[in-house]
Amino acid sequence: MCGIVGYIGTKKASPILINGLLRLEYRGYDSAGISTVEKNGLSIMKDKGRVLNLTKLEGIDDLEGTIGIAHTRWATHGKPSPENSHPHQDNSKTFSVVHNGIIENYHELRKFLTDKGYTFYSQTDTEVIPNLIHYYYTNDKQNDTLKFLRAVRNACFDLKGSFALEILCKNYPDNMIVVRKDSPLVIGKGMGENYISSDIPAILSFTKDFYLLNDLEFVILSRNEAKFYNKDLEPIDKKPKVIEWNASSAEKEGYEDFMLKEIYEQPTAIRETIGAKFSENSKCEFENLNFTKEYLSSLNKIYIVACGTAMHAGLVAKNAIEKLCKIETEIDIASEFRYRDPLVDEKTLCIFISQSGETADTIAALKLSKEKGAKTLAISNVIGSSITREADYAIYTHAGSEIAVASTKAYTSQVVLLVILAIYFAEILELDNSYVTNLKKEILELPKKIEETLKLSEKIKEFSKKVYQEHDIFFIGRGIDETVAKEGSLKLKEISYIHSESYAAGELKHGPIALIENGVTVIGIMTDPNLVEKTISNIQEVITRGAKTLVITNQPIDTSMFDMMIQIPDTHPFISPILSIIPLQLFSYYISKEKGLDVDKPRNLAKSVTVE
Ligand code: M6R
Repeated sequence: MCGIVGYIGTKKASPILINGLLRLEYRGYDSAGISTVEKNGLSIMKDKGRVLNLTKLEGIDDLEGTIGIAHTRWATHGKPSPENSHPHQDNSKTFSVVHNGIIENYHELRKFLTDKGYTFYSQTDTEVIPNLIHYYYTNDKQNDTLKFLRAVRNACFDLKGSFALEILCKNYPDNMIVVRKDSPLVIGKGMGENYISSDIPAILSFTKDFYLLNDLEFVILSRNEAKFYNKDLEPIDKKPKVIEWNASSAEKEGYEDFMLKEIYEQPTAIRETIGAKFSENSKCEFENLNFTKEYLSSLNKIYIVACGTAMHAGLVAKNAIEKLCKIETEIDIASEFRYRDPLVDEKTLCIFISQSGETADTIAALKLSKEKGAKTLAISNVIGSSITREADYAIYTHAGSEIAVASTKAYTSQVVLLVILAIYFAEILELDNSYVTNLKKEILELPKKIEETLKLSEKIKEFSKKVYQEHDIFFIGRGIDETVAKEGSLKLKEISYIHSESYAAGELKHGPIALIENGVTVIGIMTDPNLVEKTISNIQEVITRGAKTLVITNQPIDTSMFDMMIQIPDTHPFISPILSIIPLQLFSYYISKEKGLDVDKPRNLAKSVTVE
C-alpha cells in the first residue's frame, strides 16, 4: 500500500523518482507526487490519478534538484485528490514528507497541533507528521547538526501505527532523513548517490547493495553517506547486503502484462524454489533450518497463518503435512488469528507465508505467536523482508519479483516449498512414508509438466471468450481440489470483477445450488482419483439445472457432458494444485483482457497490504 521512492545524488532527481514510481505503481495508484530540493526551497508537485498524470504537470520538467522524495498512493484517509496526495508539508513549508502506513492516533495529534495554532489542508493522517516535526524543530533550542534528526525522532515517538517516512528539510538542503516502523523501506547504496524505495525491485537497476532497516532506525542520508542511528540517537553500524536478483524480472520482456509473464515464469520459479534441496535419492535439506526430531515430536500442532492467496497455499500444505508428518495442522487468516487469542504455546510451530513479507496482519500474527512462546518460521519471496527478520527461521520461494497484483507464480512456489518442508519434517521424524520417493520424483518433474499445462492456453482463452460477460461464476471441488477452487475464484474476482464463489462440491446441495439456473457457469476441478466420481455427480446436478460447465482434470473421464474439459498432466495429489491452478490463472487473465480491464492493477487493490 503506497510506494515510496527517494534519490540523493548528483543527477537530476525528478526523472529517477518518476521512473521509480512507475515501477512501484502496483503498490497503489490513486495519486502520485514528488518533492525536490530546488535553489529557492522545496518544490511540491502532486495530483490524483496515475503516475502518468504527474508527468504531465506543468513545470515538472523544469525541476533541477538532485535530491527528492516521491510517493504513489493507495488511499486510506481521504479520497484521491490533489490535497490528499503526498508529499505533505507543514504550515511553514520547511518540511516535505512522504508516508506509507497508517497513523492511528492522528485525530489526537491533529487536535494537539490545532491547539498550538497549526492548520490542515487535507483529510489525511499523514499531514500531522510534517507539522509535528516542525513543532519539535522550532521548540529545540540547540542549533547543532542533529537538530533535524531530533525533531524527526521526537515526532516519530508520538506516532502510533505504522510508517515508512522520507523527510526533506529546506534548512538541510544536502540531507534527507528516512525511518520506518512496521512498513517497508530499503536504501540502495550507489557511488556518490543513494536510492530509497519501498521495495528492492524498483531500484534494482541502479544498485545491488542494500541497507535493510529495522524498526525505528533513523538514517541521515547525504550523497556519499548513510549514517544510522538507533532510537536513542546513538550511531549504529550497518553493512549493506548484496541482493542477487535479476533487474529484468521487473520488466515485462515482451509480454502484454506482468501477470501473463509471471504465469509463464512458473516453470522457472518452481525449478529455482526446488533448487538443490533434495534429489530423488537424497534427503531434503534447508540451509537455514536445523529442526530436530526431539522438537518436532514435541509439537501438538502446526499453525499456518497468512492472507489471501498465501493462505490458500497453506490450505494445500495442510494435507501434505498431516499425512506425511502426522502433526495436526491448522490454517488461519492472519487478520482473524491475531484477534482471537489463538491456542498457541511452545508446543506449536507457527508458519507464516507472505510473498511480500510485508503484510501487516501476517507480521502482527507472527509477533503474537512469538509472545505466546511458539517457534516461528517465515516463508517469503523477498529476502530481508520484515517477516523474515521477525521470525525465528526464514525460508524463501525463489519466484523472482512478482509485480502483478494477482499472485500467480508466488502461489505455486509457496505450495512446492511447503510440500518440500513437509517431506523435510517427515524425514527428520523418521516416519515410514513409502510414497515419498515417488512424491520427490513428481516434484522434480513439475517444471516440465507446468510447461505442458501452459500449452493449453488457447483452449482456455476460447472458453473465456464464451463467458466473459457472465455475472456469476462458481468454482467447485473436493478435498485438495476445493482449495484450488478457492484460489481460482479469488483470482477471477480480483482481476475480472465478476462475482464468484467457491464451494466444496458436496456443499452445493446445502444451499448454493439454489443460485444455479440456465447459463450460470460452473467450473469443476477434479484431480483426486478417490473423489472424482463424487464431483462428477455434483457437476451432473448443475448441468441438469442449466449450468455451463468447464472441467479441469487429470483423470481419464468421459467428456461428453461438459461444455469444455481441460486435461492437465497427472501428478501426485499433494502437488496437483500447482498444475490445476494454471488453467484458472489463465482463465481469469483472458476474461480480464476480454473485458478491457487493467489486469496488473485491478481497482481498489494493491500488491502489498501494509495496513490492517
Ligand atoms: O504479500 P502477501 O503474500 O502477504 O499477500 C497476501 C495477499 O494480500 C495476496 O496474496 C492477495 O490475496 C493477492 N492479491 C491475491 O492474488
